[in-house]
Amino acid sequence: MQVGIDKIGFYAPSQYLDLTELAQARGEDPNKYLIGIGQSEQVVIPVTQDVVTMAASAASQVITDDNREKIAMVIFGTESGIDHSKSAAMYLKRLLHLPDQIRAIEVKQACYGATFGVQTAKDYVKANPEKQVLVIGADIARYGLNTPGEVTQGGGAVAMTIAAAPQILALDDATSFRSEDIMDFWRPLYRTEALVDGRYSENIYVDFFQAVFHDYCKTTGRTIADFAALTYHLPFTKMGLKGLRSVLPEASDTQQTRLKANFEASRVYNRRVGNLYTGSLYLSLMSLLANAALATGDRIGLFSYGSGAEGEFYSGTLVQSTPALAAKQQFDAYFKKRTKLSVAEYESCFKRQLPNHDVLLDTKADDARFVLTGIKHDQRQYVDRSHTE
Ligand code: HMG
Repeated sequence: MQVGIDKIGFYAPSQYLDLTELAQARGEDPNKYLIGIGQSEQVVIPVTQDVVTMAASAASQVITDDNREKIAMVIFGTESGIDHSKSAAMYLKRLLHLPDQIRAIEVKQACYGATFGVQTAKDYVKANPEKQVLVIGADIARYGLNTPGEVTQGGGAVAMTIAAAPQILALDDATSFRSEDIMDFWRPLYRTEALVDGRYSENIYVDFFQAVFHDYCKTTGRTIADFAALTYHLPFTKMGLKGLRSVLPEASDTQQTRLKANFEASRVYNRRVGNLYTGSLYLSLMSLLANAALATGDRIGLFSYGSGAEGEFYSGTLVQSTPALAAKQQFDAYFKKRTKLSVAEYESCFKRQLPNHDVLLDTKADDARFVLTGIKHDQRQYVDRSHTE
């Protein structure tokens, strides 16, 4: 029985920062950001959005009356949680009208959380093929104004249903993972911005990729020649390119050309959204599906990396050939409707944080279906506008 990604949805807010303008404001050569980092734009998150609202917007694309009652579990991967105790999945369950006979939990291991969700869901669905699991990766990447990490910020959410007889990607059983207690990137409970040892984190990322990729190959007997595409966690798109380049010499010239072309397809959307932490690998998968020419049965490799650190390499085969036109049209429409903020507007939005007391937010400028309207009695107030307007 095949189990895998049946549906996949994406949401990010519709305001962004042009990174050429950011480079000019920071006194950097724009090519450092555009080529050296590999990012051209980044999403700016308004105060009326958080991981719950973004996840609800992404998940509403994959939860319909056809599968709502089949969902047995929500696994919400995030490192931008909104409560020390209560799971973001619980709010999501209410907003999506999911059944009560359900497990709804939040998981955290930096950018790796959603991959834990996918693998756990795979095992669950194999044992319960009539059921489905909703997996979320939602985050807000914040490093701070005028920091080296600033150009690698972003945010958004990806939602996937894992099911038997999937429509998108049938997951292989083989997977290889590794964890080590490492301080490359972390965010103490009292901080809203991450701390990072930038260069070190890049080196560890590549080390982890090589270790799990080669372990996967050793265990399965597969080689790089078995992959039509390798996809990566993309904190910034040059990072994935560094991972790919580290194994390219193992491929023939023809295979190298193909892997490089498909890598370009897999970073089109990440270049314009930025780092969405745990959803990043899966946005890259969507970018590949929408922009590459792949055939049914092609094998895709997925490298997930979460600082701290956990890495996993796994794979799946395509159920349908690409490009997935519907996904491309959805992304084209999303990028077309976005509003560009000036650097000054971005800075003021960045500084505007939710207060620690009751507040009513002005949501007029936010065009999302799900919004955070404020805090009342220390409780976040969420609204689904499709029900109220
Ligand atoms: P930096 O120090 O400002 O940049 O920070 P740099 O000086 O190292 O330059 C970056 C690249 O631009 C270099 O290329 C330069 O040569 C090039 P590289 O040597 O890397 O190939 N460059 C130019 N290229 C073309 N034209 C020019 C030019 N000038 C320079 N004119 C850094 C860069 C990535 C370290 C910083 O942005 C940072 O700390 N980012 C955050 C950390 C991060 O994303 N780490 C990635 C691995 S860890 C991870 O993926 C997990 C994470 O997602 C968190 C989680 O798991 O939750 C982060």
